Amino acid sequence: MRKKLVVGNWKMHGNRAANAALLGALKEAGPWTAEVAVCVPFPYLTETALALTGQQVLLGAQDCSSHEQGAYTGEVSSAMLSDLGCRFVIVGHSERRAYHHESDQLVADKAKAALAHGVTPIVCVGETLAEREAGQTEVVVKRQLAAVIHTLTHCIGEIVLAYEPVWAIGTGLTATPEQAQAVHAVLRKQLQAASQKADAMRILYGGSVKADNAAQLFAQPDIDGGLIGGASLKAADFAAICRAAM
Ligand code: PGA
Repeated sequence: MRKKLVVGNWKMHGNRAANAALLGALKEAGPWTAEVAVCVPFPYLTETALALTGQQVLLGAQDCSSHEQGAYTGEVSSAMLSDLGCRFVIVGHSERRAYHHESDQLVADKAKAALAHGVTPIVCVGETLAEREAGQTEVVVKRQLAAVIHTLTHCIGEIVLAYEPVWAIGTGLTATPEQAQAVHAVLRKQLQAASQKADAMRILYGGSVKADNAAQLFAQPDIDGGLIGGASLKAADFAAICRAAM
């Protein structure tokens, strides 16, 4: 039985006062039986770690460098994330693939760097609307995952995978539970061919998950929780999604 995981992705939102209010409200709303984490902007990691001390909610970041250390201005290493208490780091989010031209291989290298420092990478895969309409969904997500499997080899069982159809992110268009499950099943099968741990691995769904559609999505056999953007910025909504994962 896989424990459900609900991860908030704050993206580039927040400030010190708003974060404190959100984290305070989450503290009141818990505990949950699901595992819960928030992936916050780099500047707020330390303060968030402090605010989460003794709480159930785990800390995560939204990206990391593929490099160990060195002259990489502006980059943040997974060793630094580990040092600050991060348990998770999102890699390969579609916004980074699109706006920062991250390749499948770079995403795989970032996942490898994270694992090397004991930070669990949440590897995002997903097709654009044009790719879905062209019948390319499976080809695209399998190609994205294959790069990670090839790079991590026997360590692939240590990652969390997130299926996030690009057309559903921030658009209010959620994949139906059936559409999401179909892709999750494809990904599970690909993992099974690569790792004996596949059945214990968590595959999250992300893309306009809200309090009113979360339970149906999480009830699908291969959906093991969610990666939540917009709705993770409102404590009541995020808490309701965490409850839906019980
Ligand atoms: P959304 O974002 O919930 O706002 O659609 C999800 C994500 O980008 O991880």
